[in-house]
Amino acid sequence: TTNWVVAASISDIDALEEGMALSVELGGTAIALCPFEGEVYAINDVCSHGAALLSEGYLDGCFIECPLHQGLFDVRDGSPQSAPVTAPVASYRVKVEDGKVLVALP
Ligand code: FES
Repeated sequence: TTNWVVAASISDIDALEEGMALSVELGGTAIALCPFEGEVYAINDVCSHGAALLSEGYLDGCFIECPLHQGLFDVRDGSPQSAPVTAPVASYRVKVEDGKVLVALP
């Protein structure tokens, strides 16, 4: 069975300023919740290239930019999109229920 964990309220997502992601800690893992086109996407918050939190970078559409070396990831699947990042970050399934954002932890 899927381990759905409540990560945030949808109102926390709605309150984010343009370009911001919401950092949450779930089961010891730092996860960035990223709004895009009315959906919420969840990826591992730690850049695959170094010790930086993607949630401290900039969310531009479906891409989040790492604050350290400006590598880009697609928040929909965690895939690397521009140098210097070459490895993906984990992405997690998300659902919204009763105003809560739930993330499927592995
Ligand atoms: Fe993220 Fe280098 S640490 S691009």
